[in-house]
Amino acid sequence: MTPPAGWRLRAGPAGVDLLDRDGPVPPVRPGRGPGVWRWADLLPLPAGTEHLSLGEGGTPLLGAPRLAAAAGVAEVWLKLDHLNPTGSFKDRAVAVGVADAVRRGAGGIVCGSSGNAAASAAAYAARAGLPAVVVCPEGAPPGKLAAIAAYGAVQVLVPGDYSRSFALAVDLAAELGFANVTTTYVNPAAVTGLRTVAYELVEQLPAPVDRVVVPTSAGPLVHGVRTGFEDAVAAGRAARVPALVAAQPEGCAPVARAFAAGAAAVREWDDVRTAVSGLDDPLRGYAGDGTVTLRAVGETGGAAVALPDEDTAAARALLAEQEGIDVEPAAATAVAALLSLGAGGGLAPAERVVCLLTGHGLKHPPTSAAPATVVTSVGEAVDHVTARAR
Ligand SMILES: Cc1ncc(COP(=O)(O)O)c(C=O)c1O
Repeated sequence: MTPPAGWRLRAGPAGVDLLDRDGPVPPVRPGRGPGVWRWADLLPLPAGTEHLSLGEGGTPLLGAPRLAAAAGVAEVWLKLDHLNPTGSFKDRAVAVGVADAVRRGAGGIVCGSSGNAAASAAAYAARAGLPAVVVCPEGAPPGKLAAIAAYGAVQVLVPGDYSRSFALAVDLAAELGFANVTTTYVNPAAVTGLRTVAYELVEQLPAPVDRVVVPTSAGPLVHGVRTGFEDAVAAGRAARVPALVAAQPEGCAPVARAFAAGAAAVREWDDVRTAVSGLDDPLRGYAGDGTVTLRAVGETGGAAVALPDEDTAAARALLAEQEGIDVEPAAATAVAALLSLGAGGGLAPAERVVCLLTGHGLKHPPTSAAPATVVTSVGEAVDHVTARAR
């Protein structure tokens, strides 16, 4: 791609193309609308690019004192990014990626995805009046596939893990001449949309935090949060970049494995064994993406941690039952990581931590939820309530 004025394309670690700012961070002009597009002047889209919006960004930040007590830290903040229009943070990247595709005159949109980015691509393509083709693993959660279907995209399912969807999407985009908004690092413009999470955090937090915990697959979100905070520091709006903690499932943890080994580069993951949809990317053919993410973690003084699926399921239940927030397993890894680190695993009692909640629970409901009981009288209902309360 030819970068717009004020940006340069640079080969990052392992040769991954990254869009970097070339010059100072421009001021944010007021009155540019809410959410992601409020930061339009900070995005790599030329003036006059249509702001393709479904209401993405501008998500709430909630304090969670009980969670902070459970983790043994001073403060925990939950960034409710699962409340984006299609139920995941991917809308930030895809809104920018599709807006860029429209201004370049693309005839359609392609996205390889474990489900969330595909739902997002389908929705934003519909809004832009473009056809969308999405490629997902055949084992993707039915709720995610149903959401994609609702937006009328052409769905192609492939056997095997996420990397096969990634590869087919690259080939399909080339074959059809469509823009590829797959949310690995393959579309550098889309990745810049993720900086807006950090811009919002800087405004919403009453004081700087020490850590941000990020559910991580290939890791563009980690990179986006890092570069967003770097922009805020360069513009004098933030004092420092917080340490970034990448949370991955134990059964697919290429970045956490490299971090634990002190390796300089991330390797592909051979055998994916996790039910955490969205974080099940073995990075086959693009392990360099993981290396970019590993650098972001290391250079901010952070960490990458691997969590058993059971811890993630327990964290999801805790968040839903004690805070009233239901997120999908991928998002719950942030809370599982917080609790596992807090419990003697590296967090200091004075720390202030943000957990990014990246995906809504509705598209990926819990499998273990107790079935509801059918009753035919008040007496039976009271008996049921009494039995449950025991
Ligand atoms: C809910 C959710 N959280 C986190 C991630 C990981 O994001 P990234 O690919 O930026 O590492 C994904 C990716 O699909 C996801 O769906």
